[in-house]
Order: sequence, then structure tokens, then C-alpha cells
Amino acid sequence: MLASFALSLLLATLAVCDPKGHRWHHPLPTDRRSPCPGINALANHGYLPRHGLNISLAQFITGIREGYNFDAIFTADAVNSYQPFTTTGYNNTLNLNDLDHHSIPGEFDGSLSRNDLYFGDNHSFNQTIWNTVAAHFHHDTISIPVAARARLDRVTAAEAINPNFTASNVTSFGTSALYLQVMRGQYNATKTKYVQIFFREERIPFNEGYRRSNVSVGNEDIGQLALEIALASGCPDLECRAQNSSRTN
Ligand SMILES: *[C@@H]1O[C@H](CO)[C@@H](O)[C@H](O)[C@H]1NC(C)=O
Ligand SMILES: *[C@@H]1O[C@H](CO)[C@@H](O)[C@H](O)[C@H]1NC(C)=O
Ligand SMILES: *[C@@H]1O[C@H](CO)[C@@H](O)[C@H](O)[C@H]1NC(C)=O
Ligand SMILES: *[C@@H]1O[C@H](CO)[C@@H](O)[C@H](O)[C@H]1NC(C)=O
Ligand SMILES: *[C@@H]1O[C@H](CO)[C@@H](O)[C@H](O)[C@H]1NC(C)=O
Ligand SMILES: *[C@@H]1O[C@H](CO)[C@@H](O)[C@H](O)[C@H]1NC(C)=O
Ligand SMILES: *[C@@H]1O[C@H](CO)[C@@H](O)[C@H](O)[C@H]1NC(C)=O
Ligand SMILES: *[C@@H]1O[C@H](CO)[C@@H](O)[C@H](O)[C@H]1NC(C)=O
Ligand SMILES: *[C@@H]1O[C@H](CO)[C@@H](O)[C@H](O)[C@H]1NC(C)=O
Repeated sequence: MLASFALSLLLATLAVCDPKGHRWHHPLPTDRRSPCPGINALANHGYLPRHGLNISLAQFITGIREGYNFDAIFTADAVNSYQPFTTTGYNNTLNLNDLDHHSIPGEFDGSLSRNDLYFGDNHSFNQTIWNTVAAHFHHDTISIPVAARARLDRVTAAEAINPNFTASNVTSFGTSALYLQVMRGQYNATKTKYVQIFFREERIPFNEGYRRSNVSVGNEDIGQLALEIALASGCPDLECRAQNSSRTN
């Protein structure tokens, strides 16, 4: 009886701890961060260097695997797309704010939690915008149709007021797929509570029970989920071009 009480106390204690060496800390004013909550959360937990400076592909691969169990090919593809825009002075490292570059994966109009570049700050979490997205989440978990509706409403609203709107549907579907996939974790269903913490605090919700996926996640998984979101949005594919549209952005 006592032993089992002690054991459950121990388990409870373990359950409320960030992994050893990976306590969440607020970034310092001098630390660099990106427009991507998932990357920022990794740096806030020390899976990527907390200063956010001069990070190599090898460090990204290790950090993203340890934090979320995404595979090396996924990470290499993403990092390589940003490498031409590095401001580190080295051609094989990135500062996290190098991910601000407009219209490559990560920074795009109609973001779920950032404002469009047209309105100024395309980098920082924007509570007002996030609230319009989170208003769609009425249940304990976020289903694909709900994520699809939240994304579409946000993009439609952004497109209506931004005369310079440029976004690829592929990127937009992809980023919704990313948060759904990352926050599925081992539980393999996306808890609303986890997603709120992830976006609002840029914190991985270990304290609330989150555990990363125990199977490696790759491009195919993200692509499949992105397609499911596209289909749930009434699009025939990831491009989602209107039948006769000549738009190519
Ligand atoms: C930045 O990274 C490069 C490549 O890994 C390394 O050679 C260099 O010493 C680093 N510079 C600083 C200031 O950390
Ligand atoms: C990166 O820089 C190194 C040393 O400056 C150079 O030898 C190498 O060719 C460069 N690589 C690319 C892909 O530009
Ligand atoms: C909007 O786009 C026009 C034309 O490309 C450009 O000149 C202008 O600087 C952009 N405005 C903003 C605020 O990005
Ligand atoms: C995105 O916004 C940040 C912060 O306002 C700014 O420093 C950066 O220049 C913007 N990105 C581009 C490509 O202009
Ligand atoms: C957040 O976005 C809203 C809506 O576009 C805007 O009015 C507000 O100024 C933004 N807040 C910040 C802090 O940039
Ligand atoms: C994205 O899809 C919408 C239809 O939902 C379409 O109107 C728009 O042109 C598409 N945008 C791009 C960049 O393909
Ligand atoms: C996770 O859930 C998705 C959707 O329900 C399913 O397709 C996938 O096989 C599951 N993955 C694992 C590892 O159980
Ligand atoms: C992954 O986690 C799930 C849920 O906890 C469990 O059912 C499954 O056996 C685990 N798989 C592996 C390979 O550890
Ligand atoms: C759509 O495309 C078809 C075939 O290219 C063309 O005949 C038709 O006139 C177009 N409709 C509109 C509304 O542009």
C-alpha cells in the first residue's frame, strides 16, 4: 500500500518534469529565435543551442530528432532550403532568425500565429491572430477537418486584407500538418491543450504528459497529413489551384 503510494508519487513527480538537461527557459533578449514555434520550442528546451546562433545541419538533425523524432532527411531538406539566406558568415550554419526570410518554408502569409510581412512583424507570436485560429478548437483533440477549417479561415481572412498576399497552399498545408504531427507524439492524437502551449509558450508540453513519437517521422508522413488537410478543405491536391486560375504564387 505504502509502496504503491510511493511509486505513484514517484511516477507523478517524473511526469511533471522536463527531460534532464532540457528544462524550458524563456529566451534571453540576445537569443535568436525564428518565426516557427516548433524550432523555437526546441531552442527553449536546449535541444538546439539556446542562443540560436550559428547552428549546423548536424545540430539541427540531432535536436529535431531528440525533440520530435523527425528523421534526418526531413531536417536536411528544410535546413538546406534556408542555407542560401544565412547571415552567420558561414555557408554551413544558420542563425534561427535567418528563418525570417519571406516566402520560403516557415515564413509565409496567412501564418497561423504570425502576422503577414505586409503588416510589419512577420516574426513574433501574435495573440490576436492565434485567437482567431484557436477559436476553432472546441474539443480535447484537434481533428483533421477542424485543423483544415482553422487554416482556411485564417488564410481567407489574411488574403482579404493583405494586398501583397503571397503564400503557397503547399507551404500552408505543410505547416498545419507539422503542428498536428509534432503534437500527436506518442499519444498519436493532437491534444488541443498541447497545441495551445506549443504556440503560446513555445514550450514542449512534457509537464502535461507529452512524449515525442516513438516512431521516426519523415517527409512522407508530413506530405500525407498535408494532403489529408487539403482534401478536408475541398481541394483536389496540395496545390489547390482553382480550376481555371492562372495564379502561380
Ligand atoms: C560557426 O560555425 C562554423 C561551422 O561549424 C565554425 O567553424 C565557427 O567556428 C563557428 N563560429 C562561431 C563564432 O561560433
Ligand atoms: C563553403 O565555404 C567553404 C569555405 O569557405 C568552401 O570551401 C565551400 O566550397 C563552400 N561551400 C558552398 C556550398 O558554397
Ligand atoms: C507590396 O508590394 C509592392 C510591390 O511588390 C512593394 O513595392 C511594396 O514594398 C510591398 N509592401 C509591403 C509593405 O511589403
Ligand atoms: C520579417 O520580420 C522581421 C521582424 O519584423 C524582420 O526583421 C524581417 O526583415 C522580416 N523578413 C523579411 C524578409 O523582410
Ligand atoms: C497582431 O495582429 C493584429 C491583427 O492583424 C494587429 O492588429 C496587431 O497590431 C498585431 N499585434 C502585434 C503586437 O503586432
Ligand atoms: C490556394 O487555394 C485557393 C482555393 O482554396 C485558391 O483560390 C488559391 O489561388 C490557391 N493559392 C495558390 C497559391 O495556389
Ligand atoms: C497515428 O494515427 C494515424 C491517424 O489516425 C494513423 O494513420 C497512424 O498509423 C498512427 N500511427 C501510429 C504510429 O500508430
Ligand atoms: C509506441 O507507443 C505506443 C503508445 O504508447 C505503444 O502502444 C507502442 O507499443 C510503442 N511502440 C514502440 C515501437 O515503442
Ligand atoms: C476555363 O478553362 C476552360 C478550358 O481551358 C475554358 O474553355 C473556359 O472558358 C475557362 N473558364 C473560365 C471561367 O475562365
